[in-house]
Amino acid sequence: MTAGGPVLAVDQGTSGTKALVVCPERGVIASGSAPVRPRHLPGGLVEVGPGELLASVLDAGREALDRAGEPVAAVGLANQGETVLAWDPATGEPLTDALVWQDRRAEPLCAELAAHADELRDLTGLPLDPYFAAPKMAWIRRHRTRRGVVTTSDAWLVHRLTGAFVTDAATAGRTQLLDLDSVTWSERALALFGLDGEELPRVVDAAEQVGTTDAFGAELPLTGLLVDQQAALLAQDVTEPGSAKCTYGTGAFLLAQTGERPRRGGSGLVACVAWRLGGRSSYCLDGQVLTAASAVRWLTDLGVIKGARDLDPVGSAVPDSGGVTFVPALAGLAAPWWRGDARGSLTGLGLDTTPGHLVRALCEGVAAQVAELADAAAADLGEPLRSLRVDGGLTRSALLMQTQADLLQRPVEVSALPDVTALGVGAVARLGLDGRLGLQDVVPEWRPAAVYEPRIGPDEAATRRAAFRADVTALLERTPPS
Ligand code: G3P
Repeated sequence: MTAGGPVLAVDQGTSGTKALVVCPERGVIASGSAPVRPRHLPGGLVEVGPGELLASVLDAGREALDRAGEPVAAVGLANQGETVLAWDPATGEPLTDALVWQDRRAEPLCAELAAHADELRDLTGLPLDPYFAAPKMAWIRRHRTRRGVVTTSDAWLVHRLTGAFVTDAATAGRTQLLDLDSVTWSERALALFGLDGEELPRVVDAAEQVGTTDAFGAELPLTGLLVDQQAALLAQDVTEPGSAKCTYGTGAFLLAQTGERPRRGGSGLVACVAWRLGGRSSYCLDGQVLTAASAVRWLTDLGVIKGARDLDPVGSAVPDSGGVTFVPALAGLAAPWWRGDARGSLTGLGLDTTPGHLVRALCEGVAAQVAELADAAAADLGEPLRSLRVDGGLTRSALLMQTQADLLQRPVEVSALPDVTALGVGAVARLGLDGRLGLQDVVPEWRPAAVYEPRIGPDEAATRRAAFRADVTALLERTPPS
């Protein structure tokens, strides 16, 4: 079945918004983008002005439409997941800045709830950590305002665009307030976070017409909503149990499909909703490297490199990391360690250490962390991952991708399609537009642009992985749990 005309697919991410006008026959017709600049403040605080998020959605969307020069039939919106704010539902005005998913200010609140961590994990699939939305929502209620509603950023953006008060099931699953089995708000989780009585958005399917918007010119239905990592999972055609993808963005996020029943693993990964379509939920396991491109940006801010494009030329100037090791826990460690209080470590420095050694150590650190997540996913799935499909800006680094294949000891398949997240939510928007379509009609055909095969043997990979784990253990020992 053909999948209709062009749609506008918008990916509102941490560091910017990307918009595509995309159509099944011709692929991406035009694109637009707008930067977002979160503020990184002392003490692990990360904030962004909500107005900046909305303006970036409008700017990127309008730019893509202008460039396309032809009408679209619908809009889809992907969002960054665990970023929250308070806002006035009567006026749509924000009442606080948005607290970005990387923000750590809710750590003490999580510590207070530690006795309920297992119960919350069982209920929601998520470990107790400030990365998720609920701890930050509760922090806003305690320390900022009791007025209005407090929600993830998607609910606010959708309200501004359409007037609807909704969130998709997968984004709701990133809050730690959603019952993983029933995919409804959990009264118990709400009570534990002191959020009982809150007015919460209606949980909707990913492909549902939630309203219309004239924000992009003509009146358009909003028919696709999905949290960004799950949108990438869908666009990479990781729709069967046992397959996995990793997106290398601000952080790196590895997701593995587990099918129509939630699988609460024992390896420290998050169990969450992949998407809900036609009232049926499918689930995934999710692991996070909290700083990937943001670790590259950190190295850039220090003046070691000029940007991500330097990774390969600078890193290739040396044959190895020269004994330098880097655990890029610059915003803490998520799965499988869940030690947000941990900080990065850089060891083995000498007077002969060059920028090339630092770049290689960074690539090794990110790749080793992703390999840990892949192993955890394989353990939970009960079978090794066959390969890993990857996307995101850092996949342009051949050095990082080769290092990934080496440490993973599996082929790493790089998506031929850039902007996979937007493509995923565009596919969902098309489903929402035409109820006769199925996933197979809208998911882009999987085509790797490059496949990196391991170039080292299992023994060397095991030695390098063991060295990384020893570094993690050492840094955790230096940081007693807070
Ligand atoms: O969980 C946060 C993550 O989904 C953000 O993704 O692409 O904005 O770094 P990105």
